This record gives sequence, structure tokens and C-alpha cells, in this order.
Amino acid sequence: MSFYVTTPIYYVNAAPHLGHAYTTIAADVMARHHRQRGEDVFFLTGTDEHGEPVADAARAAGIEPQLLADRNSERFRALAPRIDASNDFFIRTTDAQHMAKVQEVLTRVRENGHVYKGVYEGWYCPRCADFKADNEIDEGNLCPIHHIELSREQEENYFFALSSFQQRLEALYEERPHFLAPRTRRNEALSFIRSGLRDVPLTRRRLTWGVPVPWDAEHVFYVWFDALLNYYSALSYARPGEDLTATLWPADCHLIAKDILRFHAVYWPALLMAADLALPERIFVHGYLLMEGEKMSKSLGNVLDPFEVIDRFGSDALRFYLIRDVSFGQDGSVSTMAFEQRYASELANEYGNLASRVIAMLARYRDGRMPDAALDPEIAPELQSLAGEVSGLIDEVQLTQGLDAIWQRVRRLNRYVEEKAPWQLAKQGDQAPLDAALATLITGLRVVSVVAHPYLPEATGKLLDALGVADRSLAAAVPSQPLPAPGAPIASLPPLFPKPE
Ligand code: MSP
Repeated sequence: MSFYVTTPIYYVNAAPHLGHAYTTIAADVMARHHRQRGEDVFFLTGTDEHGEPVADAARAAGIEPQLLADRNSERFRALAPRIDASNDFFIRTTDAQHMAKVQEVLTRVRENGHVYKGVYEGWYCPRCADFKADNEIDEGNLCPIHHIELSREQEENYFFALSSFQQRLEALYEERPHFLAPRTRRNEALSFIRSGLRDVPLTRRRLTWGVPVPWDAEHVFYVWFDALLNYYSALSYARPGEDLTATLWPADCHLIAKDILRFHAVYWPALLMAADLALPERIFVHGYLLMEGEKMSKSLGNVLDPFEVIDRFGSDALRFYLIRDVSFGQDGSVSTMAFEQRYASELANEYGNLASRVIAMLARYRDGRMPDAALDPEIAPELQSLAGEVSGLIDEVQLTQGLDAIWQRVRRLNRYVEEKAPWQLAKQGDQAPLDAALATLITGLRVVSVVAHPYLPEATGKLLDALGVADRSLAAAVPSQPLPAPGAPIASLPPLFPKPE
């Protein structure tokens, strides 16, 4: 069983911000979870380096596009380990192997009869790198996203015959209701398709910063076709000496935000059909992180720097906050205040303190050794069902609900401590109830931590290490497993989420 998940490849015309970290974290949660299921996972992220946005930014900075791309790509590459992203490869669209693959696939698309020469006339936004119809621009010829004045362009291009895929695309959305989720986005894509598709430029003549068109030296490929193909090209060279395409294509899940819905929901499947390639299993569209009601974006300048947050609170805290506070699939506001609240009340208190208290009680009453006692039947079913429930949710890319299911158990364990009051049980003659309570709590911590591992890899890793549990797979989330074994020593644990300075 394999699982192939991707993020969009990010533009190198600016530095990474929290919005980019968000998608990468979400993809990482999925990748880690599927690894826990023993699947052969491939997780891809990277940078989109051609096209006008990058060429223009380089010109403004007075440097060559390649230099700008090298510098900024490096910042995106460096973000991944900082947020604990376990990507298997980092693709750059300036990689020679990617460029060759783009040429190969798009030549095939032409040979298959889906490309013709024509003249494009219409609106174009250089910041979006997107052609816009008359009804897609704002009053005063403004870009509705970047609020800049657009020019009307006339350019001789090779066109991709997108309109001829209209029926096949409609059929795709009707036959495969889960191809694109959430449902509102699927409906949006379908109604865009039904409203009638226009052919789109496949190449640009006026640009030089791009993948050269093999059959016409005056053109480069339009950046979106170059970019989309990263999902496919990466497999052919990510692992030196090996071609992963046969085992991993088609992708299981493309994660994107709604800003690039049309490219992924319409252009991408049509392009794959035109190239005789299999379509991805699913595309999941998450919402926007908002700051004071507006989309956080480099053009608007209202961005939170993920590096700063991580320096103060650690990457787990950022991962947790973004997935927990913004329901995955919907827009949601983020703020420093909400972040600090969740950190203190949920991470530091509900999870971190629970772990410290239970381990401290074990040290105090049982000499730091795992008691030999069965799991309390009062709580066993809730622990038993956790892994399956979370797997089912993650299969549907319900990442926030998955974390919610975990947190219900964390809260249940906190209530259990209060109900059982082990410090009272310690005073009575019969010690069996204390053994049972402590064994149940340690087991609960273990189960919760294994299932939460994809969300909070660092903290759960420390806790599981303290418990002496080396297995991070979901097999270790079965409560009846004797993990740790009765009598095994349990190490002390420094605070998992300390108060930041
Ligand atoms: N290069 C294209 C994508 C090509 S994919 C074949 C691009 N790059 S981008 O740098 O603009 O990144 C867009 C993506 O970054 C979004 O789809 C989303 O994954 C992420 N986000 C950027 N800002 C975001 C928010 N404010 N909120 C949520 N996601 C954000 O488009």
C-alpha cells in the first residue's frame, strides 16, 4: 500500500509565511499518519520558480531570476525542517530533470492533438500569472486579488484545447464525488466547468524565464503547466537511480488552498487526460488563514512569521494551533492571543501537565515502575476506538476533527485523574485500585500520544521515550498491548510545553 501526498509548490518571489507553513504542516500530518499505518509514503513539497511573478521580482531587485530563485527556494527548503515536515523530496521547477519531463509530457499533449497556434487577447495579471475573462476582473480593470490595474494583452501563443475536455471533466465530477472536497469547492469547480471552458495559452512568447518549448524556440511554457507537472515529474528523479512513477502515480492527495482551485480542478485533470496519464485520487481544498478578516498574503503584507513563533514556542505548538483553531477546509482567523491561550490551556495544561502529573505519581507511589494491572473497563472502549476513528477522519482529510477526537481522550484522562484521585487511593490498605488507576493513566497517555504523534511529533516522542515505548506505529495504539511491560521503569519527564520567556 502506498500513499503519495503533495503541497502546492510555492512561488519564490517572496519569503515563506504562515500560509505556506499551514499547507505543509497539514500534508505532514497526513504523511506521518499513513507511515504509522505501515504504508509506503511519499510526501512532496517544493518551489515554483518560473514565470512572470519571479521574473518581475528579480528585475525589481536588480538580480537574475535564477539567483532570486536560488535564494528564496532555500528559505522554503529551510522552513520544512523547522516545522518538522518529513517531506521525502523538495522539488524545484528549475531542476533540469523536471524541465525535461515537462517538455516530454507537453510534447506528447501536442502530438495527441490538443495544442494549436492562436492569438490570445484579453486581460492578464502578472502577479497571479493568470489570464482573466472580462467577467473576472473588477471595476477599473483591477485584479480582484491583487487590486492592481491590468493590461489587455495580445500575444501569439500555442493554446491548450481545454474546451474540448468539457464533457470529460463534467463526467469526472459526476462519477467521482470525492475527487475534490469539500463539497462546496467541488460544486464551484463543476459550475465553472459547466459555464463553458475557454482554451488557454500553453506557452508564452514574451517571456524567457521558463521551460523552453521544444518545437518553437521563441516560446516558453506558461508557468502553470510547468508548475502542475511537478507532481508527476518529481517521481521520476526524487530517488537517485530509481523511478517511482510506476509505484506512486497517481497521487493520493493534492492539498491546496482555494486560491488555486481552478488550476487544480480544471486545468490539471484536463492536462492529465490530454497526456494519457491517470488522474489523482483526490484534491482537498483548505481555507485561508485570515488576519483581522483578510487573507494573509505577501501582497497584502499582513503575515505572521512562522520562524518567530517556532523560536518562542516550538514547532509542535504551531502545528497544533493551526490544525486545532482553524477547521481544516474552512477559512479561519489566527491571532497571537488565540495562539497563546491554546498553548497555555490545552498543550501546557491538559496534555503537558497530565503527563507530568501521572509520571510524578508513578515515581512517588510505585518507584517509577509500571504497575501490573488491567486497564479500567470504564475508559478502555474510548481508548480502544481512538486509532480507528482518527484513521477514518484522516482518510477524509478531516484533520481538525481527528485532533478533536484525540483531545476528547486527553480531557477524559484529566477527568479520570480527578475522579480516581490516586493520592487518596494511595492512603488506603488495598493497593489494587491505585495500581489499576496508574496503569490506566499510563496506557491512556501512551495511546493518545501514539495517535497524536503525526500532529505533535516532538512532544509525543518525548513522552513515549519516557515510557520506554519505541514503536511509533498505530500497532502501539492498541490499549491492551503490554506497553510498557509491567515492572518496566518509566523515566522522569521535563515539562513538555514550558512557559515561554
Ligand atoms: N506556485 C503556485 C502553486 C503551484 S502548484 C502546482 C502558488 N504559489 S503560492 O506561493 O502563492 O502558494 C499558494 C498556496 O500557499 C496556497 O494554495 C496555500 O496552500 C498556501 N497559502 C498561502 N497563503 C495562505 C493563507 N493565507 N491561508 C491558507 N493557505 C495559504 O500559488
